[in-house]
This record gives sequence, C-alpha cells and structure tokens, in this order.
Amino acid sequence: MILSGRVVTISRTRIHCGPSAIQELHTMLLMQEYRNSRIFVLVDPNTGKHCLPLLAEACPELGAASVFEIEGGEESKSMLTAQKIWDELLAAKADRHSLLINLGGGVVTDMGGFVASAFKRGIPYINIPTSLMGMADAAVGGKTGVNLHNLKNQLGFFYSPAAVFIDTRFLKTLPETHLRSGFAEIVKSALIGDAILWRRILRQGAGNIFAMNTADRIWQEMIMKTVTFKNRIVCQDFRELKTRKILNFGHTIGHAVESLHLGNDKKTLLHGDAVALGMIAETWLSNIKAGLSDTETLEIITFLKTLYHKQCGLLKSSVTDTTRILDELCNLLLHDKKNKNGEIRFTLIRSAGKPKINITAGRDEIRSALNTLFE
Ligand code: GLY
Repeated sequence: MILSGRVVTISRTRIHCGPSAIQELHTMLLMQEYRNSRIFVLVDPNTGKHCLPLLAEACPELGAASVFEIEGGEESKSMLTAQKIWDELLAAKADRHSLLINLGGGVVTDMGGFVASAFKRGIPYINIPTSLMGMADAAVGGKTGVNLHNLKNQLGFFYSPAAVFIDTRFLKTLPETHLRSGFAEIVKSALIGDAILWRRILRQGAGNIFAMNTADRIWQEMIMKTVTFKNRIVCQDFRELKTRKILNFGHTIGHAVESLHLGNDKKTLLHGDAVALGMIAETWLSNIKAGLSDTETLEIITFLKTLYHKQCGLLKSSVTDTTRILDELCNLLLHDKKNKNGEIRFTLIRSAGKPKINITAGRDEIRSALNTLFE
C-alpha cells in the first residue's frame, strides 16, 4: 500500500492514496508488465466528462485506450450491462493481457471488477475511485459484483485489482449528496475499528462535517485511516471467512433497504444512505444483542439521524403500510450473504471500535430494530 508517497506494500494490490495519486499510474503503465497491454477505460457519463480529462493529462499512455461508458446508478449494475462490456471487449479483440481501468464510483468499480474477473477467466484491472463511497470502501478489497433483479451483489467474485489509485482531488467534483453517502462508510469504519476517530467525528459535529473543504486535513485523515483499516482487514481475511465480516456493520439491513428501493423503482436512495439507515437499526440491535451501552446507542443514533434525516424521511414517505414494509424488509434479509442455515446473521458492535460478528436475531427483534427508522 502506498500512502502519500510513502511506500508500504501489504497485499497483492498496490494502493496509492493521496491528493495526486493518479500521477503514479503513469509510472505503473511504463512497467514491463503493462507496457504492451491493450488498455480499456470504463467510465459513467459523469466521470467520462469530469474525471477522464484529469486522468488523461496525468497518463499520456491512455491516449490510445478505448473508453467504454455505462449508465450511472445502481440499476445499471446488472448482467445486461456486463454482457454489453464483454461484447465490446470481444469486438475490440481484447486478450488476456488487456488491462481494464475502472474510473468511477462503486457502480463502475464493482461492475468493471466483475467484467474483468470473468473475461477470459480473468484479466488485470485497476480501480480509480472518484466517489467518496468508492474511496472509502468499494474500490478496495477485491469484491466484484452485479445485482440480480433487485437483489444487491448476488453475483460476483473475490478478485483483487492490480492497483487502486485514490486521488482525493476527484472529491471536488462531487455534490454534497454523494459526499454524505460515502461518509457513511467512514462512520462505519470508525464504529467498528477506531474509537478515537469516532470521538473525533462526534466532536466535529454532524452539522459541520460538510461545511469543511474535502482538501482539509481532517477529510484527508479520515479517508486515509478508513482505507488503511479496510486494507488491513482484507489482508487478514480476503474471502470473508471471519474477520472481514466486521466490514458489514450496517450493510445487512442497509442492503435490504436498498433492495426495497431498487424494487420500488425509487432511485433517490444512494448506497451509503442505505448503509447509514442500516447502521441506525443495527446500532439499536447492538444495544439489545451485543451489550452496547444506552449512552453510546443514543449518541450514535442521534448523530446518524441528524446527518441522514432526509434519507429517513424518504424511507418513511415512500411507505404507506408500515407492517407490510417491515415484512418485506425481513424477507429481503433472507438473501443476505452472511446468512447460514436460514438464520439471519449480523455484525454488531459492543462499543465504538469493538465489533462482534455472526450475531443472530429473531424476526421480532429485527422488526423492532427496523421500527427505529420509522419513528
Ligand atoms: N464492503 C465490505 C467489504 O468489502 O468487505
């Protein structure tokens, strides 16, 4: 892993993180391994317009690359889109040594990783996350995938990128709604792994976070700490047999909420928003199932509800029949990838920085936890 010019090699994936990380891509593309590779770049309409010019300026080698564009948004993370990219790769005569560079948020990096992992049994790929969600979570760790119908990430592989370039200058191109969504992963990382960072975030105050420029020291530090923590966990347990499950705090209920929205054709809830709502409900569950103190429970739920009150409102306003929706959410939870023998399993927290994995909860407990989102 390479942070701000300092080199720390931890895993097979080279991670460069800092305010001008993409300069390093140029150096990498000159390496023997990639010098003769055909290069393909995957973008969405926004990253094609706002981020590709910066990348092309840093890496003149990309002048000869073919650029594929996919629609933005979770609904395009489907087999249909994957098929279209494979068709384009075939038409362009891509071979096993071709390199796919994914330039975008979580949808582009999940999709590009998936396409690369299956094409000719696996071609190398590079992630260049341009969203905070991608930087803080999706681009690192080698989870690739697409949605199946409205169910999140049901098809996919563990397949590591050759490198990840986290260039925080891209954050300047993001609207606050997307920063807020990605920030949920930073909060998650602090809650499961870094009590000091969590207290720092709390002190900063929910109202002030987005008033600060993303080039400020605190933002750079939060991103760096989150990436370093995630990389450490992934290196310990790449295939999520044990420790990596801690990274799913908030995601069990979060994915169900997101699937519900995808199914209802509501496109306004971003992935991180759903994770934030999931963390609210799972913090409540942590209180009754994992011994999280009443004080910390209240602190966390109040912070998240202040920051994500619009998203809670959105969920409430889309619901006319709460009983039916709670049942639907419970049914969606049955598809979670952590489940075993039909039991729904959660990652919860005992206190900030102390996660607990494989906690089962009954339907009534889950319904009560979900109810915190509708209060
Ligand atoms: N998003 C959780 C993980 O990568 O394991």
